[in-house]
Amino acid sequence: MVQSGIEPLGRLRLGVNIDHVATVRNARGGRNPDPLRAAKLAEEAGADGITAHLREDRRHISDADIDGLMEALSVPLNLEMAATEEMQAIALRHKPHAVCIVPERREERTTEGGLEVAQDENRLAHFIAPLREAGCRVSIFVAADRPQIEAAARIGAAVTELHTGAYCDAHAEGRFDARDAELERLREMSTHAHSLGLEVHAGHGLSYDTVKPVAAFPEVMELNIGHFLIGEAIFRGLDPAIAEMRRLMDAARGR
Ligand code: PXP
Repeated sequence: MVQSGIEPLGRLRLGVNIDHVATVRNARGGRNPDPLRAAKLAEEAGADGITAHLREDRRHISDADIDGLMEALSVPLNLEMAATEEMQAIALRHKPHAVCIVPERREERTTEGGLEVAQDENRLAHFIAPLREAGCRVSIFVAADRPQIEAAARIGAAVTELHTGAYCDAHAEGRFDARDAELERLREMSTHAHSLGLEVHAGHGLSYDTVKPVAAFPEVMELNIGHFLIGEAIFRGLDPAIAEMRRLMDAARGR
């Protein structure tokens, strides 16, 4: 039996984020390691999708990487990007399966918080309209925060991805009460987002230690996981690293 009394809505998908293969490549310039090769290996290892974040400063994934992924992938590409005109034009040129709108500040090391949707509702509604018309599934990356989720539903997003960073950070820092409170917020907001008609995804900072409780939320349909998996691949290889994550996700779903 699962938490909120409903059966899981389907097999939980794993989106593998390959950004940090590009981070390692870019540390030296040149072509190695190749994110496209990692993406194809991830596909073979059972990834249901590939996620890549084309940042405005191109610190990891490049425009050429997106060209290559669009050409070579047989699983869906989830393109993460900021809500800028430049990124909108790129997404409309490629028409990936999914576009996930994320906040971006150049000085941050990673995507630190969720998108501020509630205070930017009109602009974002106009921003995503052409992407929706082009057939992309538009996802909005938000904190587990009711007003943001409700705004994501109002602007017409198909999906909301809940930011699991605060939960994972609290776990890593041994703040277990805070971790449990974050998990409860995620649980409630998954149910709420689903009740508003949004497909629910989750991600950021997930590892073998933190994935199971989130994977067990019945409304969550997809997890996007990158940094931990690419790091783990150094020790056990990408295929076994992904296979273990898949095993933990399936176990959490009672499969
Ligand atoms: N989901 C979103 C929207 C993200 O921005 C990121 C980080 O790029 C992830 C998931 C994956 O986070 P991590 O690399 O910490 O697994």
